[in-house]
Amino acid sequence: CGIIGRVGTGDAIDTLLTGLENLEYRGYDSAGVAVQNGAGIKVQKRSGKVSELKNKIDSNVLEGQVGIGHTRWSTHGPPTDANAHPHTDSTTDVAVVHNGIIENYAELKERLAAAGHEFTSDTDTEVIPHLVQHYLDRGWDSERAFRTAIEELQGSYAVAVMMSGEHVIYAARRGSPLVIGMEDDEFFLASDVPAFLEYTDSVVYLEDGDVAIVRPDGVEFSDLEGNSVSREPETVDWDPEQAGKGEYDHYMLKEIYEQPTSLAQAIEGRVDSDSGEINLEDFPPGTFDDVDRVQFVACGTSYHAALYGSLALNQAGIQSQALLANEYSVSAPPVDENTLVIAVTQSGETADTLSALRQAQDEGAQTVTVTNVVGSTAARVADESLLIRAGPEIGVAATKTFSSQAVMLTLLGQRISADVSGDPAFDLESVLADLENLPEQFETVLAGSSAAEIAHQYEDSRSYFFIGRGLGFPVALEGALKFKEITYEHAEGFASGELKHGPLALVTPDTPVFAVFTGTEDEKTLKNAEEAQTRGAPVIAVCPDGHPATQVADAHLEIPDADSELAGLLANVQLQLVSYHAAELLDRPIDKPRNLAKSVTVE
Ligand code: G6P
Repeated sequence: CGIIGRVGTGDAIDTLLTGLENLEYRGYDSAGVAVQNGAGIKVQKRSGKVSELKNKIDSNVLEGQVGIGHTRWSTHGPPTDANAHPHTDSTTDVAVVHNGIIENYAELKERLAAAGHEFTSDTDTEVIPHLVQHYLDRGWDSERAFRTAIEELQGSYAVAVMMSGEHVIYAARRGSPLVIGMEDDEFFLASDVPAFLEYTDSVVYLEDGDVAIVRPDGVEFSDLEGNSVSREPETVDWDPEQAGKGEYDHYMLKEIYEQPTSLAQAIEGRVDSDSGEINLEDFPPGTFDDVDRVQFVACGTSYHAALYGSLALNQAGIQSQALLANEYSVSAPPVDENTLVIAVTQSGETADTLSALRQAQDEGAQTVTVTNVVGSTAARVADESLLIRAGPEIGVAATKTFSSQAVMLTLLGQRISADVSGDPAFDLESVLADLENLPEQFETVLAGSSAAEIAHQYEDSRSYFFIGRGLGFPVALEGALKFKEITYEHAEGFASGELKHGPLALVTPDTPVFAVFTGTEDEKTLKNAEEAQTRGAPVIAVCPDGHPATQVADAHLEIPDADSELAGLLANVQLQLVSYHAAELLDRPIDKPRNLAKSVTVE
């Protein structure tokens, strides 16, 4: 979900609604705002998109210089008007927006209900305004009431609270991101920087346990007990233009087309093919000398990047596994101080991944996170972090962050492999040279892709299959995930050789098979594709021009020649485009697929 808050002069409402629109990708089944003026706190909220809230708002009623807003992705209770945030106490003296989960809400609710508080929603959040009110009723001042209430919460929260008659926002963070934006006489708070990026680039990321009290003349930072803490603002270098859609119809398409740039950014200063050296900032040679095995933990698309990194390490003779972070708590293989656990997470805020990371750390493993977000929770929790530098990704379906993750994991894998076994993971000179060419090769794929025609040609199919071998396997999985996320059509990814062990039963002329060729045992993959073709399935070969598969396949998506370490990433661009165009033909809401959120901050 997304949070926005604003304290300043002039009306807050436009800033709040813009902030919510900028945040909508984080969660969007309901939205609401609360503003504060001489007449007290006014709240408007409803289920549906921010645009629906906007239509409902009568700005005359919502005058006020201080306000908070929220977009919700349901966790407790369905998306209804009543369950939308902000939540208030019965007298609307206290208004609250909250991300995270209050684990002890049932017991707090029971206690407050026994004391006469009436609840109107199914949410865990609603206990917060009532709890604050409970302490205000004792005659306590606002700050004390706020701190005491927050101290009683168990679970995770990013929370912002307004109290009637005060031009102040009280905020606290534990386990869910919250960032403060500072401009001369205007202050913002949000769950993510793009919310207020058009107003300021000067930000303070709150740490877990921080309280921020935002007043018209400044922000005061402290810990929960009230001891002052010092938090220096940093400048973010994302410009609002970049965070906007630009010339593209969808963020997803824009982000697919940004890949030559995002990849160039990822490897800038990190790769020197002339000397055959890589430079990974906090990971100099020797960093992983005492590592004997590697585990990757991740979810969704990041899991596919993790699998990519893990298979590459296996190929280099290093013991490594990619594990779904959400399965880690029940079935993690043992770790010790010689185990390196790498959390791969674009947002750095995925609850499942954070929990696996913390578990590995508690059990004594060394930890690294590979993330796109400076100051994210994963970056703070892990011993070290490696940034993929992809820039903000707004489309819910991850695209450019996947390619940057895979590339950074290839480089990191190289360092690990050299440290652990003394041998480089692959022919360094050749792969580094290819890496330096990769942005240009992405450009070539993007400029000449026939993905739109292919999507059209197979638009009426029943199911879509994706197969690949070696590093083509995670690409097949990712191709299928992208396809189902944004088209809502059935798609599955398989290891090429696995097709004949069951899935072949599903194959008919209505199930096109996209076969990814990466130069690893391609003759076997071709045979597997032909097995499907014999049963009537059209085969679309994703491979270089002149590849034997082009002789056999019904259609061809061309990729440039590249080392098998990187060829899959070029194939992935073609598959991203196929999914995009297929979704467009079906008129799907591509950037915001139903039921999905960009970052899932609950387990
Ligand atoms: C959500 C998104 C996926 C994403 C996954 C992991 O489910 O919808 O696109 O791959 O989270 O996100 P992360 O930020 O950890 O990479």
